[in-house]
Amino acid sequence: MQISTSILTIKEDKNAIAEIDKINTDFIHVDVMDGKFVQNTADFLFLEKMQKPLDIHFMVEDIEKYIREYAFFSPVYMTFHIEACKNEQEVRDIIQLIKAYNSKVGISISPDTKVEVLTPYLSSIDLVLVMSVYPGYGGQTFIENSVFKIKELKEYREKESCTYKIEVDGGINDTTCLLCKEADILVAGSYITDKENPSEQIEILKNKFI
Ligand code: DX5
Ligand code: ZN
Repeated sequence: MQISTSILTIKEDKNAIAEIDKINTDFIHVDVMDGKFVQNTADFLFLEKMQKPLDIHFMVEDIEKYIREYAFFSPVYMTFHIEACKNEQEVRDIIQLIKAYNSKVGISISPDTKVEVLTPYLSSIDLVLVMSVYPGYGGQTFIENSVFKIKELKEYREKESCTYKIEVDGGINDTTCLLCKEADILVAGSYITDKENPSEQIEILKNKFI
């Protein structure tokens, strides 16, 4: 299991972010919010280039604008919300734009969105981000029925020979992670960054999957 550490709850603290960049996380998960798609705002354009691979999660309406801005960081993944797109053409254009910047393409679904809406795109993307809390802020409780979406996405991937990874985001801790065994990447924020020893928190999560 890979772990992606969300720096949302430490977004004001540059030193804490630099420390997270040194620990044993597989990715750093960057939650970008515009105050429109979600009420909160969060931007990370002030960041120095990071050592760890970046996994950027756009919770924004004007997806194209943010992709162009954050491409500077050469993120491994750029993930946008299907709910923020007006139509199928827009989704396809955004997929192409992310690929043009040499990043991998992720699409996210909020808790009330069904997996089926992703079907037209699943053969052309690299990641599905299943939100297990409502997008907007860290420290919420894991929504258990997200587990069915993981299973559904895994079955579809096998049946259709797709290659996308399944990532789960929100409310992950040492108990809820066990519900997500069939995922590939878990995003954890407060469980890691709000503790005294973030590295140890990651070890605890990783050890659950050995
Ligand atoms: C929520 C964000 C999550 C959040 C995860 O909108 O997308 O990435 O920071 O934080 P925790 O792990 O605290 O739920
Ligand atoms: Zn996120």
